[in-house]
Formats: sequence, C-alpha cells, structure tokens
Amino acid sequence: CPRLLRTIAEVRQSVQEARREGRQVALVPTMGYLHEGHLALVERARQEADFVVVSIFVNPLQFGPREDFASYPRDLDRDLGLLRQQGMAAAVFAPSVDEMYPQPIRTEVSLPTLSDRLCGRSRPGHFTGVATVVSKLFHIVQPDVACFGQKDGQQLAIIQRMVADLNFPVRIVGVPTVREPDGLAKSSRNVYLTPEEREHAVVLYRTLSWAKDAILAGERRADIIRQGMRERIEADPVARLDYADLVSMPDLEPIERIEGDIMLAVAAYFGKARLIDNFQFRVD
Ligand code: PAJ
Repeated sequence: CPRLLRTIAEVRQSVQEARREGRQVALVPTMGYLHEGHLALVERARQEADFVVVSIFVNPLQFGPREDFASYPRDLDRDLGLLRQQGMAAAVFAPSVDEMYPQPIRTEVSLPTLSDRLCGRSRPGHFTGVATVVSKLFHIVQPDVACFGQKDGQQLAIIQRMVADLNFPVRIVGVPTVREPDGLAKSSRNVYLTPEEREHAVVLYRTLSWAKDAILAGERRADIIRQGMRERIEADPVARLDYADLVSMPDLEPIERIEGDIMLAVAAYFGKARLIDNFQFRVD
C-alpha cells in the first residue's frame, strides 16, 4: 500500500530513507485520475528502480485561463486504490497548490523553440508550466529515473531536452501509449466525452494509422501526408481539427521530405474535450 505524502519535507525524508537502504528511486509525474496508461508508467518505473514515487498534482501553471484547470477530474481515493491494487508504487506525493507554490512563482523553465510548435500554438505557456513543475518535482524527489508517456510526444521531447540542456542527473524513459481496444489513446480527459463523441474520437487513431500505412507504402512527401490527415479529421462530423502535422524527432521541426525519426501528431476537439495522439517511428 503506497505511503501518502503531502509535503515536500515528507518526500525528502522518505526518499532519503529509501536511499539509505540502497534503493534506486523512480518518479512518475501525473495529474491523477489514473488509468492504465499511468499504471503502465508505474510498472515500467518499477522495472527501472525499486522505490517508485508517483506524484499526483494538477499543476495550475500549465493550464491557460480558458482551459479546464477547475474541472479537471480529481479523485485521490480512487487513485490510491488503483495503485494499492497494482502494488508497485512505494509512495504517492500529492501536494496542495500551496505546498508547491507558497508564493507567486517568479522563475520559469522554458524551451521556446520546442514549445511553440504543435500543441504550443493553441496552448501558449503550457509547456513552460510543464517544464517548470517537472523541474520542481525533480529537485524535490531527486529520482535516478523518471518515466513519461509517448502519448504526450511533444512533452516527452521537451523534458528530454531540458534534462540534457540543464544537466539534470536523471534518466528519462519514454513508455509506449496504452490504447482502448478500438485504438483511442487512454486519457484522463476521455471522461469528458459523450457516448457519441467517444465513437468519433477514434478518428484520431485511424488518421494516424492511415498516414503510417501511406508512408510505409512509400509516400515521402510530408505535405501529402499532412493534407490527407487534415482531410480525414475534417471529414468527421463531430471532430473539430486543431492540427495534423508531421515533424522530425526529437527536434519537432516541420520537414518536407519524410526520412529519419519522425512523429505524426494530431489534436482535435470533441465537444469540450481536446484530445491528442501521435505515432513515432523511423523511416529509412
Ligand atoms: P498526465 O496527463 O496525468 O500524464 C501523466 C503521464 O502519463 C505523462 O507522462 C503522460 O504522457 C502519461 N500518459 C497519459 N496517457 C497515457 C497513455 N495512454 N499511455 C501511456 N502514457 C500515458 O502529463 C501530465 O500529466 C503533466 O503534464 C505532468 C507531466 C504530470 C506535469 O504536470
């Protein structure tokens, strides 16, 4: 049963004890309302280290003024129950907003080039909020390893780059996206979907699959793929397209000719839910 830690002081003490016992420490940062995607990260973390800390914190810094910070789903008891059942997390760090931000924060960690693309266009400031809170969590927990989902491909690329640029002594592990049987990526925001929207949300996965198949069949013109992805999402009567793009990895540069490590990335609104998905693979 994971220990529930509410303060930074408690985390530091708990991690120190684990280290004295010779344990390696892993961190899985989350915003809670856990699903199988999060649990896959915890399982992977447990393979990488023997003391796994899961943080659960809905970070106000990464939400825009018109975004869903207030309504973001929260249920700590349910989350603790899932982690207890799984039996792999040693501790849960669930701080209050006040514990994390006792005074207005005047410091930020930002990666302008990587943050401005893709989701950054419709979510200004979002990735600065993410990089800043993840920096805080790394300094609080001081993990040997931290796990992030490929589901949030841009976020993973940003964290990898931040850790490299600023020499954080932590190893970042990317974990494959966990999906529903029809292909929809698991997300805490899927609870916002009505049954009708839920049916249509699979268009994101189908669009990515179409694009990957076209590339594997030999298409190398990025614009043809972008256009085809856009058309597929726009043809859905429920989806409202945010973007459909093809970029290089890990730099997230828009490319013309498809080769090397790439990411296909899509985002669309279904009712009030904004959903994202991506495929990452190598083209030779
Ligand atoms: P959250 O959306 O709760 O996601 C926490 C972690 O779970 C992220 O690394 C995310 O990529 C991963 N994840 C979500 N859905 C997944 C899925 N279907 N398969 C695999 N992994 C999945 O991402 C955040 O929180 C926040 O931005 C955070 C990093 C915690 C900073 O506040």
